[in-house]
Amino acid sequence: MISLPPVDRAQLVATRRDLHQHPELGFEERRTGALVAERLERLGYTVKKGVAKTGVVALRDGGGGTGRCVLIRADMDGLPVEEANDVPYRSRYPGKMHACGHDGHVAIALEVARRLHTTALPGSVKFAFQPAEEISDGAEAMVRDGVLEAPTVHAAFGIHLWNDLPAGTIGLMPGSVMASVDQFEITILGKGGHAAAPHQAIDPVLIAAHVVTGLQSLVSRRRNPFEEGVVSVTQVSAGHAFNVIPGRADLRGTVRTFGGRFYEEAPQLVTDTAQGIARAFGATAEVRYRRLSKPLVNDPPMTELMRSVGEEIVGKNRVIDGVRTMGGEDMSVYLAKVPGAFAFVGSAPPAGKGAPHHSPTFDIDEESLTIGAELLTRTVVRYLEAAG
Ligand code: NI
Repeated sequence: MISLPPVDRAQLVATRRDLHQHPELGFEERRTGALVAERLERLGYTVKKGVAKTGVVALRDGGGGTGRCVLIRADMDGLPVEEANDVPYRSRYPGKMHACGHDGHVAIALEVARRLHTTALPGSVKFAFQPAEEISDGAEAMVRDGVLEAPTVHAAFGIHLWNDLPAGTIGLMPGSVMASVDQFEITILGKGGHAAAPHQAIDPVLIAAHVVTGLQSLVSRRRNPFEEGVVSVTQVSAGHAFNVIPGRADLRGTVRTFGGRFYEEAPQLVTDTAQGIARAFGATAEVRYRRLSKPLVNDPPMTELMRSVGEEIVGKNRVIDGVRTMGGEDMSVYLAKVPGAFAFVGSAPPAGKGAPHHSPTFDIDEESLTIGAELLTRTVVRYLEAAG
């Protein structure tokens, strides 16, 4: 049985608050990356900087042992949100905020690294401090830069602090727990003209309205109701005068699924809907469809391992099954390549309701930091022990 030094709660909170005051957007995490690298180097880890531009990878080689290597991943980026909280650790950067809890993820992973650096482990542990989760590009870039190789990673674990759950609970289940994220952009090309003579024009605004409605019917009429799916049109832009029919209209939006047939068919369905409707009105539509991240799928045995650790920390009935979200998370990129699990660590105040992620009043109950650190530290140990 491997014994671990206790969690340094004061240090965890201090690190999280320091990061909270200095949020950086995707691929700009220079201060965060430097702080992370400096701490890990001081602990004696082998540190690689500038991975995927601003990411940091740290390795503790367990020597012979089981020859197994386990990866802990933490995302580092903040969001373009102006913080509205009046707290001493409020963001110091105007228009930028850690409004999703990634400051906590970094603090937690650093604490895991601190607790494991003096512990004799029967294998290796690697840390991936990843940039740009929010724009769904960071994980791909880390994998392209070889984070899963040299040494080969055999399992990967991560967490998200989660304000839909009270602090003191953990949400964890096998299978798909976070959705695929696709992005579409539609340009409708009509013909501009006088607002009073629409018969001489081809009105892209009216066509755009029909396309928005048509896209909504994909979920209600083309998707199998037993498959999860969301289509949201989130940006509409056209025109610049009240008495002029513009020549074009632009739409943007997103499709979310847990995989399956709707996931496979969505690019074609969106394209056909936009182009078919445009054609019916005598216009054309250009559709650009991009897959940003795949559904995040938890491996059943790895989930079971993490669950047994979670139950020891918060109690059996406080590890909650069935927590899923149509939100996306590029941890899915690692978990598509190696088995692993991703847990939601409750971070709302137990008595009240937590502010939603990405909102200007987002904040966490800092008790969740200790739970997150315990969960990941002991999961690493349990995995390497089980592999031995
Ligand atoms: Ni997040």
